Amino acid sequence: MSRRSALLLGGLGAAATAAGSAGLWWSAASRSSSRPAPVTGAELSQPSELRSAGGRLEVRLDAAAGRIQLAGQQARAMGYNGGSPGPTLRLRPGDVLSVRLANNLDQPTNLHVHGLHVSPEGSGDNVFVVVNAGAVHDYEYRLPADHPPGVYWYHPHHHGMVADQIFAGLFGAIIVEDPEPVPVSTERVLVISDTTLDGGGNVVRVSQMERMLGREGELLLVNGQSNPEFTAMPGQRERWRIINACVARYLPLRLDGQQLQLLGIDSGRYRTPSPVEELLLAPGNRADLLVATAAGESVLRAAYYDRGSMAGMMGQRGPRQAIQPGAAGAALATLRVAGSTAPSPTPPPPLPAGRDPDDLRTAAVAARRQVALSSGAGMGMGGGMMGFTIDGREFSPARTDTVVAAGSVEEWTLTNASPMDHPFHLHVWPMQVIEEGGRAPDRPEWRDVINVPAQGRVKVRVAFRDFSGRSVYHCHILDHEDLGMMGAIEVR
Ligand code: C2O
Ligand code: CU
Ligand code: CU
Repeated sequence: MSRRSALLLGGLGAAATAAGSAGLWWSAASRSSSRPAPVTGAELSQPSELRSAGGRLEVRLDAAAGRIQLAGQQARAMGYNGGSPGPTLRLRPGDVLSVRLANNLDQPTNLHVHGLHVSPEGSGDNVFVVVNAGAVHDYEYRLPADHPPGVYWYHPHHHGMVADQIFAGLFGAIIVEDPEPVPVSTERVLVISDTTLDGGGNVVRVSQMERMLGREGELLLVNGQSNPEFTAMPGQRERWRIINACVARYLPLRLDGQQLQLLGIDSGRYRTPSPVEELLLAPGNRADLLVATAAGESVLRAAYYDRGSMAGMMGQRGPRQAIQPGAAGAALATLRVAGSTAPSPTPPPPLPAGRDPDDLRTAAVAARRQVALSSGAGMGMGGGMMGFTIDGREFSPARTDTVVAAGSVEEWTLTNASPMDHPFHLHVWPMQVIEEGGRAPDRPEWRDVINVPAQGRVKVRVAFRDFSGRSVYHCHILDHEDLGMMGAIEVR
């Protein structure tokens, strides 16, 4: 057991006692015996697609609980328009996206367009809006003409219920198309999520302990399927839009036997794609990936990741869902490449000049701040409970924690004194990484979710341009967000 998991387990023991919990381990063990086995090996499906035309996309999203196909079973889960993932929304820079969200759940919800650079005010990307059960809300998002292309996603953001609603299946992909198309033979959307179903196909309720750890589901799904399969011919170039929609699970991804090139992470694109072998997606991160196909069978795998919390706990939850250190990792999807070699598409064009966001490494910095992420035993009152805070405070929708001058560039040092990793997310305004792991990246790196490792720190710069208004930043382990690890920001 690593030192940091030992540290955390010490804290959790205290928390479990304080909560009077009979123990996560018992409930997990008794549940798992009656679970139906996931159906693997089905043909990979794609969520339906809705594409803008003439600068507009108008969609209706019905959020409802009901029968949803998950892991090849009829589950009782939640979805948009009857499916999980919901439809993929394909937009262009400069578009207006109108969403009529109909809440057919028996609980409040709302909608967030994660990563989009749009206004957080009014009926824009406003997470303070509450859409009650039975109500309808009209959102309108106006993308600037120079909006970065890339992979984004939508999900509920009603504080206190975010993790439960995403775990139950409420999420979908958003693609902002490139200014000039990238020639590829096939494009696929791969939304990776996790959840746990009981013997009756219901999404399980998780314990307070699992919330504190950040829940990890027993089922790892791609587009709602368990290890689906798909085929290609050798010599092709595919483009995979990968989203980590897991509530808390980090995904170190590999696809051995194929050549991978990273076109971008979160928002925007690199000038030229760069070769990668392993790709770490924290919860909320996305990857825009090119796959040059070579004959053979390759499995997209999620390897073990020690986020400082799970090593000791995972072993108690049964081998089926556990990804063990040193093991091959969980199979997410299987690619079979066979047949005659296909003509390879021409290489992707470099991003047209002027489409790069300004490099903030040389920008004038108007203010420097520290943002302290905290969790763990002793952080809350009484010293025994786990507290989940940013700058020592739990989220309150009425309080504004950070005020920023519109148009300015700030440098934020994100610190994490706790024994577990926390992925930090800022809405609306993307962050440029200035220092990570004690090093400055050698090219511009943009993120809207950046992992702040246990006992670690990360430095970012943010240009608070184009939009003013009130929004949030938070831990994207969404259980932690629901527990209070979120702050409100106002740009004015
Ligand atoms: Cu993906 Cu504030 O969220
Ligand atoms: Cu977001
Ligand atoms: Cu966290």
